[in-house]
Amino acid sequence: MMDAKFRMLQVVAISTLGLGALLMLPDPSIAAEASGKTASEPAAATVTFARDVAPILQARCQECHHVGSMAPMSLVSYEETRPWAKSIRQRVILRQMPPWHIDPSVGVQKFKNDMSLTAEQISTIVRWVDSGAPLGDPKDMPAPKQWPAPNEWKAAKELGQPDLVIKADPYTMAAHHQDVWWRPVSSIPITEPRWVRAVEMRPATAAGRRITHHAVAYLVQDDNPDSLAPTASSDVGGRGMLMEWAIGKGYDLYRPDTGKLLLPGAQISWDVHIHAVGEEIRDDVELGIWLYPKGQEPKYRTYLTGFQAIRGFESSTGSQTRVGRNVDIPPNSIIASDNYTVLKHAAILENFQPHMHLRGKAMEVEAILPDGTVQVVSYVGSFNFNWMVNYIYADDVAPAFPKGTTIHVTAWYDNTHANPNNPDPDQWVGFGDRTVDEMGHAWMNVTYISDEDYNAWAAKHRPKLEADASSRP
Ligand code: HEC
Repeated sequence: MMDAKFRMLQVVAISTLGLGALLMLPDPSIAAEASGKTASEPAAATVTFARDVAPILQARCQECHHVGSMAPMSLVSYEETRPWAKSIRQRVILRQMPPWHIDPSVGVQKFKNDMSLTAEQISTIVRWVDSGAPLGDPKDMPAPKQWPAPNEWKAAKELGQPDLVIKADPYTMAAHHQDVWWRPVSSIPITEPRWVRAVEMRPATAAGRRITHHAVAYLVQDDNPDSLAPTASSDVGGRGMLMEWAIGKGYDLYRPDTGKLLLPGAQISWDVHIHAVGEEIRDDVELGIWLYPKGQEPKYRTYLTGFQAIRGFESSTGSQTRVGRNVDIPPNSIIASDNYTVLKHAAILENFQPHMHLRGKAMEVEAILPDGTVQVVSYVGSFNFNWMVNYIYADDVAPAFPKGTTIHVTAWYDNTHANPNNPDPDQWVGFGDRTVDEMGHAWMNVTYISDEDYNAWAAKHRPKLEADASSRP
């Protein structure tokens, strides 16, 4: 525990003081630990690429930084990596790379897909750069990692090939054009109700990944009107969703005995946000679906839900009622917007993916329990529009809440020069679809459970939560 806190302080020191701060940390033992030596050995001068740095790049960087993947350069060989040493040093100290921006000191702290570096790994990389980025002994190089072909499904390693692949009609984006929202409809070829175990969505080609900002697959089907999803409320997205995809996202695999239900006649209504990149590109988006075996019905049903940080209002024309949203971000200002959604049933929150546009700065999700206690679920303090990261909670720490809990989402927007993504701080910004307009919601997969299940969960987890809370300074 002490150790963890100490490390936390180092992380804070690194990210707030930035360059140079590491030099002040009492960390020879940390570098030694990373390279497998004891503290008494003079480890500082001997950090090498082959022995110490290459294994970190393999574990944390190369999935994106290899030829044919999404990042602009490969970080596989020494020759490829060496020219980037200074830039790597800065990006890892500022915790911009790998792209993992959640605050690790509050809320849920264990994730299935954590790609962040430890303080030790950052220290190793910085020492390597500061000592001239030497190769060391090439015999120390780890065996090269094998990567799946770019058009292989990421989930295939774990689940095999998908049972269904649904494709959207292709779209051609001009070299120069305003943002486009492409909204085709595809049908799902099933003749009886089927339960979904996992979904993975992706632009079909590597070029398509450059123009696709994000994509949502809405599930359109005649569902039980008494459905547990809080979609009748004006404070969450109005349509049931199967999956949301954004740059860097992998796949959604539901926990054991949990799934999403597809009914015969179901359709996917796509909402693909495409932006021009200076070159004409044609692409389609596709969705891989892995099903539970026929006849196997999972106990729990999960719903992708967009918990709003922006308040809604209803307007009616004839018999139609629409929900609009309002956010008011004056020029050269930083503002907060928040909203509340009540859970109608006990539920487990499975993940957190903050969604904002270019002015997005930070987002927090809190739970206000019926007994009045308030718990921070997650906080992303340095949101970056280029990275719509999905933070997936580890099964044993995914939080459950009783019926009647209020989910409180706050979004902060930075419409000043300090925000490097801001195209024009002199513009007023309001709600809208374009990236120059704003939105704010927390995408979460919500799994509804019974009150008994919640009580069993609480008996197991609450005492620990309460102990953790009271031991805070
Ligand atoms: C999820 C994919 C992903 C992972 C993991 C990742 N990167 Fe990146 N990296 C990118 C992409 C895409 C860019 C270009 C866009 C950007 O800068 O955000 C980038 C940019 C960079 C840059 C800036 C290049 C420039 O033009 O100056 C550096 C340096 C870098 N990454 C280093 C790393 C290191 C070191 C790691 C591991 C410790 C890492 N990245 C992990 C995807 C990734």
